[in-house]
Amino acid sequence: MKRDFLHITDFTRDEIDEVLELSARLKKDTREGTSHLLLQGKTLAMIFQKPSARTRVSFETGMYQLGGHALFLSPADIGMGKRETTADIARLFSRYNDIIMARVFDHQHILDLGKYAAIPVINGLTDFNHPCQVMSDIFTVLEHRGHLNDLKVVFVGDGNNVAHSWFKLAQRIPMELIIACPEGFEPDENVVKETQETGLSSVSVSYDSYSAAAGADVIYTDVWASMGQEEEAAERKKIFEPFQVNTELMTAAGDQAYFMHCLPAHRGDEVTDEVIDGSQSIVFDEAENRMHVQKAIMVYLMGAA
Ligand code: CP
Ligand code: NVA
Repeated sequence: MKRDFLHITDFTRDEIDEVLELSARLKKDTREGTSHLLLQGKTLAMIFQKPSARTRVSFETGMYQLGGHALFLSPADIGMGKRETTADIARLFSRYNDIIMARVFDHQHILDLGKYAAIPVINGLTDFNHPCQVMSDIFTVLEHRGHLNDLKVVFVGDGNNVAHSWFKLAQRIPMELIIACPEGFEPDENVVKETQETGLSSVSVSYDSYSAAAGADVIYTDVWASMGQEEEAAERKKIFEPFQVNTELMTAAGDQAYFMHCLPAHRGDEVTDEVIDGSQSIVFDEAENRMHVQKAIMVYLMGAA
């Protein structure tokens, strides 16, 4: 049976550990200049309905390093659900390619790609979640802390797609997870509820980033207006101002706290230059790790480890 990676919870805890170990091995090989042509002759179709720098470059470069080839398909190439049904797109690429990665607006589109494709499908972000990002994030946390025990993560800002993937991760890896957000911008209540019901992690919503931040291992933030919400940006800026990650908030968190951001960052809005360029920031390790971790995810899904 082919496997997809559409949500963090598509993997068991053991599988997450296996992918993280594989990521470390592939990263080490790449750094040492040792080639690992595990996907030689394979092709990846990359479907983008939204802009991307990191996701495109990390998948395309990663596929090349694995000996395969990646094809970039923009909205002009693929009118998902307009020029053609999502199901037909899935069936079509299953005839040409070996694996699909897609970034779409509507989460149902990624579910449909997974359902109708005969080949593995990877979610490269939807309006609902961003699992590749958070797999890379937890790999980065593991690299820096050396372990994942007694982990406290505070997500400051919008209860958005990246936040949802953190909640899904908390269903597989025990942690204390707090989202500190303005009222009305909480994550999807079903995701919070299902995470609480899983009973593995302590998860909560707070409206005060300063009290939430105390003792955190990770202070995480993201843009206040995601792709597709551009017209709300000015209004959101006023509402989210108290949730800026600045030196005061990092001081409230403590010296042990790492600063993380999926990027791209809106400097001066959700994070100050001082924090993102400061000694506690690991944002570029995080960005680099997208490539190593996504290579591991592709290799794992294709049974090529
Ligand atoms: N973090 C992330 O997914 O970046 P891009 O939108 O540039 O791909
Ligand atoms: N929440 C952001 C993440 C970008 C990587 C967005 O969806 O635009």
